[in-house]
Amino acid sequence: MRGFPTLRLSSDPRRRPLTLSRSANLELALYAAGEAIAAVRAGRSLSDALAGLEAGASVSAAVRDLAYGTLRNLGLLDALLAQLLHKPVKPALHALLLAALYQVRARPQASHTTVDQAVRAVARLEPAAKGLANAVLRNYLRQADALVARCDSEVAHYSYPQWWIERVRAAWPRRWESVLNAGNLHPPMTLRVNRRRLTAAQYLARLAERGLAGELIGEQAILLERPLPIESLPGFSAGEISVQDAGAQLAAPFLDVRPGMRVLDACAAPGGKTGHILELADCALTALDSDPARVLRIGDNLARLGFRARVLCADCAAPAGWSDGAPFERILLDAPCTASGVVKRHPDIKWLRRESDLAQLAATQGRMLDALWQQLAPGGKLLYATCSVFPQENAHTIDSFLARRNEARRLPLAGLEGGQLLPDARHDGFFYALLEKP
Ligand SMILES: C[S@@+](CC[C@H](N)C(=O)[O-])C[C@H]1O[C@@H](n2cnc3c(N)ncnc32)[C@H](O)[C@@H]1O
Repeated sequence: MRGFPTLRLSSDPRRRPLTLSRSANLELALYAAGEAIAAVRAGRSLSDALAGLEAGASVSAAVRDLAYGTLRNLGLLDALLAQLLHKPVKPALHALLLAALYQVRARPQASHTTVDQAVRAVARLEPAAKGLANAVLRNYLRQADALVARCDSEVAHYSYPQWWIERVRAAWPRRWESVLNAGNLHPPMTLRVNRRRLTAAQYLARLAERGLAGELIGEQAILLERPLPIESLPGFSAGEISVQDAGAQLAAPFLDVRPGMRVLDACAAPGGKTGHILELADCALTALDSDPARVLRIGDNLARLGFRARVLCADCAAPAGWSDGAPFERILLDAPCTASGVVKRHPDIKWLRRESDLAQLAATQGRMLDALWQQLAPGGKLLYATCSVFPQENAHTIDSFLARRNEARRLPLAGLEGGQLLPDARHDGFFYALLEKP
């Protein structure tokens, strides 16, 4: 039965489910987005925080919109709210007010409705704070330009932590601003056409038949004119296409896999690149991932595409647990990293990462490279990949590896100077290094 949307917030089981009329969707959405934002500020990932919500589809879409938008603009919204609050408030109320400020800025034409709905949402959370919420939001509306003009820090201007801004500026002195700004855009939706089934030109024609438009921006990569629900795309469940960023689509061709080769995808989940490798060549592929829940998604992805592989839940840096001793001719190490190149899809990452993560991740990546190098056949190639823009876990990791292993040879990659693809409006940021064992 389709009735009024019901929202359950798993983070606090004592709260009763909320059942409200459709007109109250914004109130509910603000309330839930506030919870999700507060959870991120307490250290949880946004996808985990949102997964705790059970809501009608229209409410969920609005909550996602509010939570993503608020986290994209968190530096500015924090600075605005600091000017409007005269004493500290509880984290949950602070987060709800941030979501409300985001909404009044994003939909200025509906600002009075937003204030009304936000005050109602605050009443659910902390009834005594209704007046405060009303005053904060109305004060914002009265002096928005002056308040924004006083937000003169870099954190407010770019909406990244200061350490992040400094590291990007130091690494990319001529492109640092465009890198930061690209991370605050809405992500595009890009498809990878399964070339075993049809060509990219044929799929573009299929889209056109349905009045949908896209642009070919890579061998198999179609950038959709606008993101669409996956169900509305022809051929998805039949494995004709996958959703994959154009930058990520560079990995499988760089790996240069030939039919019959023994191939290892060492950090494979959820299997985006695994599927692409198998689309390009019939090979004997082993896919590893250490996360048991994510490993299951590799199997799902391969089943949809109609491929088989040996899929194992294992630590790639401890080969004794999974290796049968036979070396691999190709290895893909899509290493765990800060994910600083994909913040337009995951804006919570900007606020969850700590600067100290860089050294820790670089050390893990170095250990993985050392272990996997032992599994590579002579004459074989290992492709190291991250979705990061920080050299500490990219070029520096590779430089230290090459210093430890002077037999390893780094091969050039067409179109990627130094191996770094910086993010822009059409793709995410990635780093690639192709290493050959003599
Ligand atoms: C960047 S993601 C991989 C994305 C994947 N290659 C794709 O294209 O869909 C990194 C993966 O490394 C996995 N991972 C982290 N540490 C690992 C380890 N020691 N051994 C194997 N996998 C690991 C994580 O669970 C995560 O799924």
